[in-house]
Amino acid sequence: MPSRENGLDKTLAELGVTTAEQVGSRFRELQQQFDLDAAKAHDEISWKALRDAWLGRKSGVLTLVTDHWLKPAAPELKRAVGASLNELRKHVDMQMEARRAAIEASAESAAAATERVDLSLPGVIRPIGTRHLLRQVFQEIEDIFVSIGFSVVEGPEIETPYYNFEALNIPEHHPVRDDMDTFYLDVPDDAPGKFLLRTHTSPVQIHTMEKREPPVRVIVPGKVYRRDNPDATHSFMFHQIEGLAVDSDITFCDFTGTIDYFVKQFFGEGVKTRFRPSYFPFTEPSVEFDASCVFCGGSGTAKMGGTCGKCKGSGWIELFGAGMVDPAVYGFVNYDPQRVSGFAFGIGIDRLAMLKYGIDDIQVFFQNDVRFLRQFP
Ligand code: FA5
Repeated sequence: MPSRENGLDKTLAELGVTTAEQVGSRFRELQQQFDLDAAKAHDEISWKALRDAWLGRKSGVLTLVTDHWLKPAAPELKRAVGASLNELRKHVDMQMEARRAAIEASAESAAAATERVDLSLPGVIRPIGTRHLLRQVFQEIEDIFVSIGFSVVEGPEIETPYYNFEALNIPEHHPVRDDMDTFYLDVPDDAPGKFLLRTHTSPVQIHTMEKREPPVRVIVPGKVYRRDNPDATHSFMFHQIEGLAVDSDITFCDFTGTIDYFVKQFFGEGVKTRFRPSYFPFTEPSVEFDASCVFCGGSGTAKMGGTCGKCKGSGWIELFGAGMVDPAVYGFVNYDPQRVSGFAFGIGIDRLAMLKYGIDDIQVFFQNDVRFLRQFP
C-alpha cells in the first residue's frame, strides 16, 4: 500500500521535484506501486481495501496526490502533474474494473463447481416390487372361476356370530365351533352384540344370498383368522377363497365337474381328483377333495426312490372341503329349498400355494423376506 515512502505527505517542492521528467518518474513509481497492490487483490474484500486505499475520497492515494502534489505545484509543473495524475487515474480506474470482473468471474465459476448438477451420476434407483405370491395365486384362481361364469365378491372381516356361525347352521354350543377357536372383539358391555374376526369366508355366502336372488355364482377371496398356534402349516391369519353356486337345477355332478375343472386348470391337466365323505354343518353331503400327488405324480414313490414324503406314499394330497349347500342354510336367506340347489367350497389359499410352489413353511408368506419374495417375480 502507498505510504510515506512514496512522498504523499509532502509537496513536490518539498520532495525536490522541479522538472517534468521528475514528475513523470514519481508518477511511474506510484503506478508500479498500484500494480503491485492490485496483483494482491484476489477477492471482494481485498478489492474493496484496494479501492479505499487508492480512490477513497478523504485519504485515498489519488486524493493525496491532488491535495499535496497538484494543488500546491509550481505553475510551470502544474500541467505535467495534472496530465500524469489523469493518466494515473485512468490506469487505476481501468485496472480496478478489470480486477472486479476477474474476481466476480472466478467466484461464479467456484460456485458453479460446487453447486454443479452432475447429470452423469446414476439416479436413486427404487426397485419396483412385484405382487406377493399369495396375491398371484388369488389372481390365478379368480381368473379360472371368472372364465366359467363366476363373479368375485368380498365381505367384512369383522363379523357377528350370526353370520359366522348361526346362519351357517352352526348354533351355539355346536361342537364344530371348537375347531374354530375364535378372536372375539373386546366391545363395551352395552354394545349391540358380540363381534369376531371371521374364521372362514363362508359368512359371505349368507351376505350374498341375502342380497341376490338365484342364480348365484360367486367366489369370495379374503383373510380369515383363527386362534391357531403358528407352525409350518398353521397361521393365526390366513387366506381362503369361498365358492358358491346356487340355481334351480345344480346337481352333484355339476359340483364335482366344476372342482375337477378348477384343479386341472390350476395344477395341470394330468392331475386327478377324488372326494371323500366329510362333515360341515352348512353342506350336505359334505366332502373333502383330494388331488393326485403333484410331487410324485400320484405314484406314491419319490422321484429319487422310496416313499414320497409329501403324500406319505398314498398318491393323494388333501386339497379342501366342500359340499352341496345344506337346505337348512336356505332357510336363513329366504331361498326355497324345494326350488334351488347348489354347492359351496372353501379353499385354503396359503396351503394350496405351498403345494403348487413346493413351499414347506407357511410362515415364509408373512415374514416379508425379499430373498423369498424375489423368487416369485
Ligand atoms: C372351512 O373353513 C369351511 N368354511 C370350508 C368350506 C366352505 C366347506 C364351503 C364347505 C363349504 P376348514 O376349517 O377345513 O373349512 O378350513 C378350510 C381350509 O383353510 C383348510 O383346508 C386349510 O387349507 C385352511 N386352514 C385352516 N386352518 C388354517 C390355519 N390355521 N392356517 C392356514 N390354513 C388353514
